[in-house]
Amino acid sequence: MDVILNGACGRMGVVIREKLASEPRGIRLAVGVDPTANEGENGILRSLSEYSGYADVIIDFSNHKSAYELMEYAVSRGLPCVVATTGHTDEERAAIERAAEKIPVFMSANMSLGVAVTARLAKLAASLLPEPEVEIVETHHDKKLDAPSGTALILARSVKESLPEAEFVCGRSGHGARTKNEIGIHSLRIGGVVGEHEVIISSGDEMISIKHTAASRSLFADGALAAAEFLMGKPAGLYDMNDVVKDAFGD
Ligand SMILES: NC(=O)c1ccc[n+]([C@@H]2O[C@H](COP(=O)([O-])OP(=O)(O)OC[C@H]3O[C@@H](n4cnc5c(N)ncnc54)[C@H](O)[C@@H]3O)[C@@H](O)[C@H]2O)c1
Repeated sequence: MDVILNGACGRMGVVIREKLASEPRGIRLAVGVDPTANEGENGILRSLSEYSGYADVIIDFSNHKSAYELMEYAVSRGLPCVVATTGHTDEERAAIERAAEKIPVFMSANMSLGVAVTARLAKLAASLLPEPEVEIVETHHDKKLDAPSGTALILARSVKESLPEAEFVCGRSGHGARTKNEIGIHSLRIGGVVGEHEVIISSGDEMISIKHTAASRSLFADGALAAAEFLMGKPAGLYDMNDVVKDAFGD
């Protein structure tokens, strides 16, 4: 499987390139793309449009603003695409959904299996406890651009499936108690934290806390490569980690 890597010079791009340099399953880097690449840097191109060579799939760990160019390129070449980038606007997400009518797209703000499982467990807990209050706390490194994290939103949306009246409240300030239907989302940006997400669910005198910690970026790189393999031979459509875990949950 030959991979076009969009965002090849970023933190995640570097981890994926290192993995592909010694990848035993025959997954190869077709080309890396990054606008910040120096001239001739390890064969990395500055724009997707410069590459017309062979590829089986695109993996995107770049910036949400690249969504239009990325989707246009993927559709024009009929290439499946793993969108791991986070922070898309509604318009950018709509463009990705339109592209998924023509090509297979795997989109997840978190490529780890553990977060998909965490989202299911939080949804289950919120459905079983009476009148639950839910707060989500996420912590990331100080260079992260988007807040709340895409993963916090995955968790919040999953809980909302059990609490359809719930509204997301990002951060909290000023006077006034929390309202009954809030899902609070709180973002910490500090140091080099790879990614921590905790869903706290309280019902009266008891509280359940479900926490996921990513120990290294390697986890996301492995997940993205697994997602790329998952897309091979799939029809056009929008896929996510739920499609990977649903068998395990008996859906
Ligand atoms: N889904 C997941 O599991 C997961 C895990 C980690 C990070 N992420 C997300 O992936 C993205 C990248 O994360 P990072 O930590 O590597 O960020 P980063 O800032 O270190 O790297 C992003 C790279 O993308 C490049 N870039 C910017 N615009 C581009 C464009 N138009 N085309 C191609 N490349 C472009 C930048 O030059 C930079 O090198 C972020 O949105 C982050 O939130 C997702």
